[in-house]
Amino acid sequence: MRAYFNSDNYAPVLPEAMAAIAAVNEGHAPAYGNDAVTKRIEDRLREQFGDQAHGFLVFNGTGANVVALRAMLRPWQGAVVAASAHLNLDEGGAPEALAGIKLLTLPTTDGKLTPELVDKWIVRIGDEHAIQPGAVSVTQSTELGTLYSPDELRALADQAHANGMRLHIDGARLANAAAALDVPLRAITTDVGADVVSFGGTKAGLMLGEAIVLLGDDLAPAMPYLRKQSMQLASKMRFVAAQFEALLEGELWRRAAGHANLMAARLAEAVRDVPGVRITHTVQANVVFAILPPGVAERLQEEWGFYTWDEHTGEVRWMCSHDTRAEDVDAFAAAVAAAVP
Ligand SMILES: Cc1ncc(COP(=O)(O)O)c(C=O)c1O
Repeated sequence: MRAYFNSDNYAPVLPEAMAAIAAVNEGHAPAYGNDAVTKRIEDRLREQFGDQAHGFLVFNGTGANVVALRAMLRPWQGAVVAASAHLNLDEGGAPEALAGIKLLTLPTTDGKLTPELVDKWIVRIGDEHAIQPGAVSVTQSTELGTLYSPDELRALADQAHANGMRLHIDGARLANAAAALDVPLRAITTDVGADVVSFGGTKAGLMLGEAIVLLGDDLAPAMPYLRKQSMQLASKMRFVAAQFEALLEGELWRRAAGHANLMAARLAEAVRDVPGVRITHTVQANVVFAILPPGVAERLQEEWGFYTWDEHTGEVRWMCSHDTRAEDVDAFAAAVAAAVP
């Protein structure tokens, strides 16, 4: 099997993150986040997201999202999400099964919510028979590889706040978004008025680890209890914190995610004009979606790793990561061109 375009989750750990794990593997340290490395990372997250930020490290992205929503919502409230959201499609029903959270879904063409779309769920406010919208959750960059501009996010935050809701950002690929937009992390989170962010480390190149970043004080007191109850409290947290420290040092995240974005753009350019290949979404982050003539994807998959995203349309997903090599992109693009009849 040649280089994988399955997922950034297939990629190895960034050498800097691996070295950071080894560097803190010295003797005993207080458990459950009471160690010096975790204390430091809380300060480093404040540097990135602002003084009012409270960072809580967790194991994985599903955990970050579900704990974030638990913090934001009361039992009679739901979260407005795009139908294509990871929360809706790829978390195994965890928001519903483990947190009792109703997702209020909206179909989109590009994975992005707009105030006009969200408006559909701002109905029956105060009606005890109806689930009350309590939060809007957007993914940045989206599951379809598209981006929200800061203005688009601000409009969603303003709408949410005007209607007594909060804005959550699923930032499993926040690094890709900030790198693509060439802005600091806070420009697409804190500065647009978001309330809670799931800040991803894994897809940027950590072995594991995500941070729930609260961008205000009011939800912070509940968070330690919710994280523990949700089975997301790491006992040896210093090993997660050390990786995050490496990721933030000198903006390693920007280099790693920026490279992945660049490789996706290279791939899109290389296959865009191949007859029969139709790129289905604007390529703005680290992923390319395409529809190929019948049978072509299956032939390519004998040698190359990638997912069929939509079994009905045959749409495929090609994802790049921090270690994707330009020569593999070029060889894959050539294979695509050769496989098309
Ligand atoms: C948009 C998005 N959110 C969250 C996640 C986190 O998922 P996991 O629980 O597998 O770490 C993913 C992983 O694919 C994702 O794509």
